[in-house]
Amino acid sequence: MSFAVERETEDFLYQQVINLIRDMKAQQTLRPGDKLPSLRGLADKLKVSVPTVKQGYQELERLGDIEARPKSGYYLKAASSDHHPPKRIRLARQPVKVKRQSLIEQVYDAIHTPGVLPLGIANPVAAFPSDKTLARTMRRVMAMAGTQAISYGPMDGFAPLKRQLAYRYLDFGLKVDPDDLVITNGAQEALAIALQCVAKAGDVIAVESPCYFGILELIESLGMMAYEIPVCPDDGIWIEDLEKAIEQQSITACVFSTAISNPMGSCMPDENRQKVVEILEQKNIPLIEDDVYSDLYFTDKRCIPAQGYSKKGLVITCASFSKTAAPGYRVGWMITSRYNDSARRYKRALSCSSSLINQWTLSEFIASGDYDRNMVKLRRTLCCNKERMIASIKRYFPNEIRVSDPQGGGVLWIELPGGCDTVNLFHQALSKNISIAPGAIFSPTNKYSRCFRISFGLQWSNELDMAIKTLGGLTKQLIQESKN
Ligand SMILES: Cc1ncc(COP(=O)(O)O)c(C=O)c1O
Repeated sequence: MSFAVERETEDFLYQQVINLIRDMKAQQTLRPGDKLPSLRGLADKLKVSVPTVKQGYQELERLGDIEARPKSGYYLKAASSDHHPPKRIRLARQPVKVKRQSLIEQVYDAIHTPGVLPLGIANPVAAFPSDKTLARTMRRVMAMAGTQAISYGPMDGFAPLKRQLAYRYLDFGLKVDPDDLVITNGAQEALAIALQCVAKAGDVIAVESPCYFGILELIESLGMMAYEIPVCPDDGIWIEDLEKAIEQQSITACVFSTAISNPMGSCMPDENRQKVVEILEQKNIPLIEDDVYSDLYFTDKRCIPAQGYSKKGLVITCASFSKTAAPGYRVGWMITSRYNDSARRYKRALSCSSSLINQWTLSEFIASGDYDRNMVKLRRTLCCNKERMIASIKRYFPNEIRVSDPQGGGVLWIELPGGCDTVNLFHQALSKNISIAPGAIFSPTNKYSRCFRISFGLQWSNELDMAIKTLGGLTKQLIQESKN
């Protein structure tokens, strides 16, 4: 590719910068998610001024071809003009009992089958793993703490880690008392404890629709009822639907991921989140905030947690290190002042304490600065992967499909035309050694039988691109069969 501008043409120099980048995109020298040459680098190559390149980049940004990422540079986006997000669904008529879905077990089995590409699991850390640094850190902790590191830890968690977590919330203007923090076995245990603090069997829990299946399993196992509130692909739950639901149903509590939902990847603007907290607290309805993905944002800053808007203490925040550092460590936490006594009682009864060595290692990992350094790289890698995967889907899948454009996290939500059943796709993909998460497990009323979720939380490779091609072929076949 020629890196020279023509000075004899009618085109402005910045227009030639635009043409060059678009040519590189067309020839796939630059792929979605790739970083563009730096302003100075390209200016030197083209022998033009830095402001000329900047003007070209700014115009490309305005046209939606590229995006600027703070302190990082410009990146190529996937084509957005033909982007079709998943369709809006209607508010549920009534709460329902969640039935045990053996399909969830099959999805877990598929993920752990050797040789199967695990697109069905949301494990974003795999895109940029920190295993080596963590292993080094753990060795250091073992040498320092000896037998203490492998004994029982305090019931509510390792005090230095609790202080560090509380300190990190100060970034959002949130003063968390470390005593209001309980360390748990992942966010899943935090969610289980939180639900038991605020509701009992038979109570109605409002959930997002589509909803992370782990929450539905919890509701089922606690004998509670689920009431689905639709999620908008961009902004999270529809507030007018939430207001209607509260008027019409007797809702005991809500479990929402307002900052990057799973599977949709939507992110509620801060002002909407504040409104949700106000609406719920006015009616004395507790909100369990499932905040596991909020640090994996692709925008320029992280959202303010719902906890930060609570005036009555009715928000319980549940989060973990599973999506940012080490899912296998099973270290999560919950924040509640109002329900603190019950939370501690449940934690004691359920598991006594969480792994001390893992908490200690994470505490040292944060203290050394490695955690934050890794997160910057993880976010960047995930964002590139997202663009690449959307581009591959556009290349290999039929036009009729719709796909989410998540604002963070590590998964895409794909919607096929009516009549398709993605449980079939799940089995067919598995026969080709690819696991996906079929839509059926994301709703207690099977609203999403034509959808499925795939993860971009893996290291990008040709194998991954080929797996998307295979899925595209199977999808084409499925759509064809549904028409016959
Ligand atoms: C939305 C959501 N909440 C909670 C969890 C559970 O997290 P953990 O692994 O920390 O228990 C997950 C895990 O996939 C999730 O996606």
